[in-house]
Amino acid sequence: NYYAILMAGGVGSRFWPVSTQDFPKQFHDMLGTGHTLIQKTFSRLSTIIPKENIFILTNEIYNDLVLEQLPEVTERQVVLEPAMRNTAPCILYASLKIQKENPDALMIVAPSDHWIEDEAAFTSNVKQAFEFCSKQDALMTLGVKPTFPNTGYGYIEYDKSSEAPIKSVSQFREKPNYETAKSFINKGNFLWNAGIFMWSVSSVIDAFKTNQSELFALFQKGMDAYNTENEAAFIAENYAKSENISVDYAIMESSKNVYVLPATFDWNDLGTWGSLYDKLEKDSNQNAIVNAQTLTENASGNMIRTESKKLVVIDGLNDYIVVEKKEVLLIFPKSKEQEIKETLLRVKDKF
Ligand code: GDD
Ligand code: MG
Repeated sequence: NYYAILMAGGVGSRFWPVSTQDFPKQFHDMLGTGHTLIQKTFSRLSTIIPKENIFILTNEIYNDLVLEQLPEVTERQVVLEPAMRNTAPCILYASLKIQKENPDALMIVAPSDHWIEDEAAFTSNVKQAFEFCSKQDALMTLGVKPTFPNTGYGYIEYDKSSEAPIKSVSQFREKPNYETAKSFINKGNFLWNAGIFMWSVSSVIDAFKTNQSELFALFQKGMDAYNTENEAAFIAENYAKSENISVDYAIMESSKNVYVLPATFDWNDLGTWGSLYDKLEKDSNQNAIVNAQTLTENASGNMIRTESKKLVVIDGLNDYIVVEKKEVLLIFPKSKEQEIKETLLRVKDKF
C-alpha cells in the first residue's frame, strides 16, 4: 500500500544561473556525485516504496527530462501539470489519482532537491511515521532542529512534555518573519519543517476537503476521468484554474491532526548557494570549488563553480558566490544569497 509523490516542478531560482526555468536544479548534479538530485531522491525513496508506486509530479515542460533521468519510470508515473500553481494543487490531484488506484494507500510526499546522507535513518523514520498514520488520521511531518531564524522554512511547535517519539503539533507556521522565527527558536519547542510529509490518502484528501473546499471541488469534478483516457483533457481545461498555493499554507497551517517525528538524519534543503557550499568539500582556505581549476590568493569562504574545467584566478575576495553558466557570470555576496531570486527577475530579459 506504499506510494510516493516526488515533487519536481519548482524552478529553484535562488540557484541561478545554474538552475533555470528550462533546466531547474533538481535535474542537475549539484553535489558532484555523478547523480542528479532527482535521481538521488528517487533511489532513496525506492528503498521503501515499490518503484512502480513512485509518482513524479512536474510541469509538462520537464516531462522529457524526467523520462531521460529516470529511465525506470513509466509514463503512468509522471503526473504532468500544464501550469505552475505551487504544491497544493498537484498534491491534491495526485492524491485523487492514487486514491482511485488504491483507497488504502499510505503516501510520502517528498521534494526532489534535498540532501540526506544517512539513508538508513531516513528509511527508519519514514517507516515509523507510516506505522503511525496507518493507525490514525494523521498528517505527519519530519522536523529538523533549527540552528538560526531561517525565514525560508516552515516552523512546527510541538508538545514539549510529550515523551513519545511522535509528537502532536500545536502550531504549524509557514515562513514566519525574522522576529517571529527568532522568538520561536528562543522558545525551544519548535522544529523546522523538512518539507517531507506522510499520511494516508484518505487523511490528506479529507484535509483538502475541510480546508480548501474550492480547490477540492475543482479536482473532485474530474474523479471519473482520472486514470482513464479522459484525464488529460480534464486537466488541460481545469488545472490552471487552481489557486497558486503551497501545501503548507493550504492544509498544514489549519489542520488539527498534524504530528511531527523529529528526524534522526542530517538534512539540508539545498535551497541556496550557501546551503550547497555547506555540503561541499572545501580547500584549505574554505573555498568550495566545483569543476573549476582555481588559483586563489587572499580569498576564502567562496563558492566557485564553472561549467567546464576553467582556470579561475581570484585575489582579495571573501564569502562570495562566483558561478558561471553559458552567457552568465554571477558574482554575488553569500550574505545576500536570498536576493538572487529578485535579481534574476530584474535581469532576465537581458540574456
Ligand atoms: N510538481 C510541482 N509543481 N512541484 C513543485 C511546484 C509545482 O508547482 N512548486 C514547487 N515544487 C517542488 C519543488 O521542486 C520542491 O522540490 C518542492 O516542491 C518544495 O517547493 P519549494 O518551493 O522548494 O518549497 P520551500 O522550500 O519554499 O518550502 C517548503 O520546504 C521547506 C523545506 O525545504 C515548505 O514545505 C517549508 O515548510 C519547508 O520548511
Ligand atoms: Mg525548497
